Amino acid sequence: MHTITDKVSITSVLNPNMRMFDVVMCTEYGSSYNSYVVAGTDKTALIDANHATFASEWLEKVAEALDGRKPDYLVLNHTEPDHSGAVAACLKRYPEIVLVCSAAAAINIKEITNLSALEPQVVKDGDSLDLGELTLRFISAPFLHWPDTMFTWIPEQKLLFSCDFLGAHFCEPRLFDHRIVFARDYTTAFKEYYDAIMAPFGPWVAKGLDKLEALDPEVVAPSHGPILTKRGRLATGIEHYRAWSAPPAADAPRKISLFYCSAYGNTKKLAASIATGIRNALPDAQVCAHDLVDANVNCMGAELNSSDAFLLGSPTLNRDAVPPVWNLVAEIDAVNIAKRPVAFFGSYGWSGEALPALSERLATLKAAVYEPQFRVRFVPSEDDLVAAEEFGAGFARGLVAGAS
Ligand SMILES: Cc1cc2nc3c(=O)[nH]c(=O)nc-3n(C[C@H](O)[C@H](O)[C@H](O)COP(=O)(O)O)c2cc1C
Ligand SMILES: [Fe+2]
Ligand SMILES: [Fe+2]
Repeated sequence: MHTITDKVSITSVLNPNMRMFDVVMCTEYGSSYNSYVVAGTDKTALIDANHATFASEWLEKVAEALDGRKPDYLVLNHTEPDHSGAVAACLKRYPEIVLVCSAAAAINIKEITNLSALEPQVVKDGDSLDLGELTLRFISAPFLHWPDTMFTWIPEQKLLFSCDFLGAHFCEPRLFDHRIVFARDYTTAFKEYYDAIMAPFGPWVAKGLDKLEALDPEVVAPSHGPILTKRGRLATGIEHYRAWSAPPAADAPRKISLFYCSAYGNTKKLAASIATGIRNALPDAQVCAHDLVDANVNCMGAELNSSDAFLLGSPTLNRDAVPPVWNLVAEIDAVNIAKRPVAFFGSYGWSGEALPALSERLATLKAAVYEPQFRVRFVPSEDDLVAAEEFGAGFARGLVAGAS
């Protein structure tokens, strides 16, 4: 049995083969569903449950960690099913166990288990539970990344259970940061996790960091990936979260990104001319054009979501925009996209449905849709490319006018 301290055991389940999380997030390095058992002199508590698929494996580990004692509490820091799926099995095994969670989580868990009679012990920010020589203190951490999220803190051990915060989909059998072998892969996974899960909630991340730093933990045990320690990667993780969640500096160059696909190079030519037009109109802007065909869609999504304005280019194939462009649209951070300027361009042959379809979708997401769309029949002529440049310049000038 792995432990963090003599009073805290690790009951995590490794899932090295997972390649996709929550349907949308690619997980090249697998993951772990972390959970812990805390043993006070009087009472014991489980911190987080597990994915339903791994209920029996997790419960076996829990029984081993409890070493004959009964579990008094099951703390749910968050009710997403990767952590709450095994709650029903846990209640079946230990009918006396008391669920401890936030008010929002208490509502969710009834719907997740379909046990309407469930009466969790609801805790607020600052509440605590005495386990005997060990205290669990609960710290509200909403939107990291659900409204229900909280952290659990053991002051006597300077140990924080941070839920998904500072986690990573990275299956690390050695469990701790200082034992990571493939450090560069972990860094990639840590960033990808932030982008996919935490990035929409930047201001909440900053608040979460404030609370975490005020505690000055020795150990942060997240619900996925390696446990972070003060002498290991904790400070670096905090530093990264600070940088990634910070609003852009007022004098930062405006970031304008173009994303396109092109079967025969026509939309690609338009992208190049439009980018030139934008650069001419806004020489200080950071302008980058991305061909989506061979790109990693999660990375492109992060690029798009961090852009001040963006353009989508697609040919029309079989009366629609092409799949890589739609896949990118699916990566858009709908929580924060409102009012973001977006324009559309592309080549078509006869009916040209791609751009209206994209425009309609972005309007639904409440982005600031730029009109007109720029479309060219088949191969762009020299005149078309000049017009494309002018289109890019017009879009760029609109950004300046919009901002002033
Ligand atoms: C398989 C296929 C289906 C197409 N379907 C349509 C269509 O439904 N409507 C249309 O306007 N053009 C259609 N086109 C024409 C393309 O939009 C046109 O060739 C365009 O110039 C391709 O631009 P690209 O080189 O940027 O990919 C189709 C082309 C292909 C290859
Ligand atoms: Fe989650
Ligand atoms: Fe999670």
